[in-house]
Amino acid sequence: MGRQEHWETVYKTKDHTKVGWYQPSCDSSLALIEQIGITNKASVIDIGAGASTFADGLLGGGFSDITLLDISKEALDITRSRLGEMSLIPHYLVEDITTVSLPNRYDLWHDRAAFHFLLNESEQKAYIKTMYEALSPEGYAIIATFALDGPDSCSALSVQQYNREKMEEVLANKMKIVDVLERIHITPGGGEQKFSFFILKPI
Ligand SMILES: C[S@@+](CC[C@H](N)C(=O)[O-])C[C@H]1O[C@@H](n2cnc3c(N)ncnc32)[C@H](O)[C@@H]1O
Repeated sequence: MGRQEHWETVYKTKDHTKVGWYQPSCDSSLALIEQIGITNKASVIDIGAGASTFADGLLGGGFSDITLLDISKEALDITRSRLGEMSLIPHYLVEDITTVSLPNRYDLWHDRAAFHFLLNESEQKAYIKTMYEALSPEGYAIIATFALDGPDSCSALSVQQYNREKMEEVLANKMKIVDVLERIHITPGGGEQKFSFFILKPI
């Protein structure tokens, strides 16, 4: 099964509020945005947005320049219907991040648990290049991956776990690490998952 088919099947067949990565609110990401000092005038793109409530949090904070990108149309449709009237505000892109050509520049690139599915160097490099080119020079990226002692798979797919050294290696002098924060995610089933949140800036 290809990548897109995998994710379409996940969102069509599973209750998205019961999958391991679900969070009723995206507190860690929203707190980091505040900590960095990004205002609600910023343009934000969420990579592998899925059916996440990150968009709800941004809209609640008065952000209006929001782009949600995911390989699964079904996932974005779930968000669209949940947001109701507010669904007209975000832009929706059904794309594979390893091949997309992004039309705009963004002040914030956010990715929780999508980048870590890229296992080969050429896809990781393509992602970093796309991020670098799409970020405004003063912009930031927040990328959350499983930590080195976090899970080694998700949704029956292997993932690459990251610590500072491993992330520095893939950033290849395009982006610098401003900070790394460890966070524990409690899954809907009550399990614990260790995440690393990387705050990055273009060099
Ligand atoms: C584990 S889920 C995380 C979803 C969301 N970020 C969250 O925190 O709830 C990973 C998401 O990345 C998307 N995804 C996986 N590979 C992708 C790719 N190459 N390009 C775009 N989206 C991708 C999947 O469809 C899925 O929605």
